[in-house]
Amino acid sequence: MKSAGKTTLPPYFNIDPDEALAALGDPTTTSSFSTISDACGRGRSDLESRGINPDGQRKLRLFSTWEITRYLIPVAQAHFRRVLKANPDLPQGQSETEGGAKWFTLDEVLKLRAHFGVEGSKAKEYLPYRPENVPAKMVAVANFKGGVGKTSTAAHLAMSAALDGYKVLIVDLDSQGSMTSIFGGKVQDEWQTVFPLLARHYAGYQRSENQRRLDRGDAPIPLEETLSEALQVKAQDLVQETHWPNIDLIGAQLNLYWAEFQIPVWRMQGRGWKLWEALTESFEQDGILDEYDLIFLDTPPALGYLTINGLTAADILLVPLGASFLEFDSTGRFFDMLHTTFQSIEEGENLAARALGRDEISFEWDAVRAVVTRYDSTQQAELAALMQAYLGQTLSPHRQDYTALIGQAGEQVQGIYEADYRDFNRETYARGRETFDATYAAFKTLFIGAWRRDELAKAQG
Ligand SMILES: Nc1ncnc2c1ncn2[C@@H]1O[C@H](COP(=O)(O)OP(=O)(O)O)[C@@H](O)[C@H]1O
Ligand SMILES: [Mg+2]
Repeated sequence: MKSAGKTTLPPYFNIDPDEALAALGDPTTTSSFSTISDACGRGRSDLESRGINPDGQRKLRLFSTWEITRYLIPVAQAHFRRVLKANPDLPQGQSETEGGAKWFTLDEVLKLRAHFGVEGSKAKEYLPYRPENVPAKMVAVANFKGGVGKTSTAAHLAMSAALDGYKVLIVDLDSQGSMTSIFGGKVQDEWQTVFPLLARHYAGYQRSENQRRLDRGDAPIPLEETLSEALQVKAQDLVQETHWPNIDLIGAQLNLYWAEFQIPVWRMQGRGWKLWEALTESFEQDGILDEYDLIFLDTPPALGYLTINGLTAADILLVPLGASFLEFDSTGRFFDMLHTTFQSIEEGENLAARALGRDEISFEWDAVRAVVTRYDSTQQAELAALMQAYLGQTLSPHRQDYTALIGQAGEQVQGIYEADYRDFNRETYARGRETFDATYAAFKTLFIGAWRRDELAKAQG
């Protein structure tokens, strides 16, 4: 009994100070961080060298006839096969066994969809709604809390939209670069992120200020080297292709964090610079908004300058949060911070605008929606219902279920849409997919509605 009493004592009692000292090791210095980071780097290369694809390139899986006719192109399987047979020029797919199921690349699926769009019944939605001559919709996914599902939600929505036939650009504004990893992006330094676009926008402002100085007879202020260099950069130079044929990426890596220090310095030097217009205007100038249908901005877990830029660039703002007290509470404070931040920008601008007799600014979004992520109906129904009651329309109607498949899918495969359904029980797969399809449907309703509003406004002149 004596020994039993000893073993039931919690582990934090009777820690021997000398043993603790022996286990402690030498104090950590700044250079230790470099040793640790080198070790991580070597481990990473080791992991990479064991990768499924030895060249480190991601490859998107193939899509079966079942999946295409079930989820992507709304036709009966028999009709799908008849159309392929009648049109030998169309992609015919490949099968693993003689006469086995046919599998297609996403590129081939897109070609088939285009064919059905032109030749098929006009009563069916083969091609997704996209009014002509209206710009891409920009969507920011933001919340200053980390781990709420921003990146997962943005990645899944981007993939849903791509499968649905839209042309998608993803912009990673998080210097942690999770989104960039998901899409296999390679980014050397901040010059391959959005940083040069922000710098270019500021440089443009400086140049127009210099013109004003010249007009007044004052000497212009020479542009810093960074800024002159940024003037040469086009958004298209930053865009990289991904393993998804219709998803492109502007990636991020650690150096992008530098922008959080540089932007306030520029703001100090050029008080009239509208930093919140930097991203939108750069994309507009380079025609990016005409090249894509949807642009997703994944933001860092902070309300810094990059996030503010993303939020003001966005037409639609999605705020993911879990149905827990802590996340509900902190999301409430996030909205409060949004209010304070944008109100102070508006007030600052409008003070000057009124003095100069110019139009006042007022930020506006097509839609702002909170989205419940990682939802567990057995534990969180009550809290979710309460959130619904208080948030009303601001809370998106579909709760994105917690899906173990997401964690299980593995390193080479990111999320439900990249997973091969044959690796799972068909029922499990269908349920996991259903919740992300429903999240997409709720989001699609938003951007379709917003595009329709633009289209009608355009028609009215
Ligand atoms: N619907 C979901 N089901 C299960 N796990 C999820 C789901 N959504 C996100 N996760 C997991 O939660 C963690 C945090 O998600 P992430 O998207 O990286 O959040 P954030 O970008 O807000 O920091 C990740 O490990 C992710 O795999
Ligand atoms: Mg993230």
